[in-house]
Amino acid sequence: MPHRIAVIPGDGIGVETTREAVRVLQALDLDLRLIPFPWSADHYLATGETVPAGAFEMLRRDADAVLVGAFGDPRVADNRHAREILLGMRFEMDLYVNYRPVKCLLDSLSPLKKAGAREIDFVIFRENTEGAYAGAGGQLKRGTPDEVAIEEDISTRKGVERITRHAFAFARTFEKPTREGRRPRVLMADKHNVQRFGGELWHRVFREVAAEFPDCEPQHMFVDALTMQMVRDPASLDVVVTNNMFGDIVTDLGAMLQGGMGVAASGNLHPGKTSMFEPIHGSAPPLAGKGIANPIGSIVTAQMMLEGLGERDAAARLEHAVLGCLAAGETTTDLGGTLTTSQAGDAVLRRLERMEPR
Ligand code: IPM
Ligand code: MN
Repeated sequence: MPHRIAVIPGDGIGVETTREAVRVLQALDLDLRLIPFPWSADHYLATGETVPAGAFEMLRRDADAVLVGAFGDPRVADNRHAREILLGMRFEMDLYVNYRPVKCLLDSLSPLKKAGAREIDFVIFRENTEGAYAGAGGQLKRGTPDEVAIEEDISTRKGVERITRHAFAFARTFEKPTREGRRPRVLMADKHNVQRFGGELWHRVFREVAAEFPDCEPQHMFVDALTMQMVRDPASLDVVVTNNMFGDIVTDLGAMLQGGMGVAASGNLHPGKTSMFEPIHGSAPPLAGKGIANPIGSIVTAQMMLEGLGERDAAARLEHAVLGCLAAGETTTDLGGTLTTSQAGDAVLRRLERMEPR
């Protein structure tokens, strides 16, 4: 049975970086069926359609994984298509785990003086289906001096519990050289000093779930303190779990610790069901169409997808090829190299070809 992969390049540099990820996937000698979908700003502006009716059910039924580029286009000022396509997948496909590893592959990519590849190696799990992203709220008396805006931050018992449990279960399997025999840590970050309702629920559920995992060390930090800790002592972190909005923010910091937006991957997962994979970088309209975007983020996202599909050998070969390119400076200009987007893709392909399939 081939792996059926829906490919949605989207907008801007997402189109260019996804093209390279697809070329790399095709070079791996795997039985893959890549199915492209045009959903994007262009498609929306031309047809008025963001995603067709039934799209998410179709993806769940007919695809084993979804590979996404990026969404966002200045011509769609309210970002409607991005919301409906990207958040639509996260919510409608119930992709409750946003998996964002923070793994610096090479010392020279680290922006920190005192930490490099050895120290920067942890994982952030962001709750992905509720919180401030739920779209609950409203406006009253809009445009008048008396206007009121309410944005609800929704946490459900089920939602908090399942992401917390996922983080602990993952922590049990998380290996890294600097752990040196101690129990894997799971750190929950919230603001329950201020958010007395949702924060309190997170705090309580976290303690309850932690009790089921005595082989892990539960920790807590307020999310503002976590941003400090990520910079001051990233080696102290193993697994972090947090809500949707806090997770959105701290994972941008995480991406920078890895070497920048150009190299960071993420998975939107529902264990056991069709999951979606996207680089952390956005569509970057000012960079689009110039052939300068870094395809590594999309390529390591494809690698994460292969791991999710159980193709561990191919994923390991791909990681090795990417590492080789980074170490040799075969990169785009954001990482100090001289290559264009497609040349950076070529560099990965050349290294893959030199490797014997295992
Ligand atoms: C991300 C992005 C999205 C988010 C935007 C594009 C809606 O920033 O995936 O982190 O806020 O989740
Ligand atoms: Mn974000």
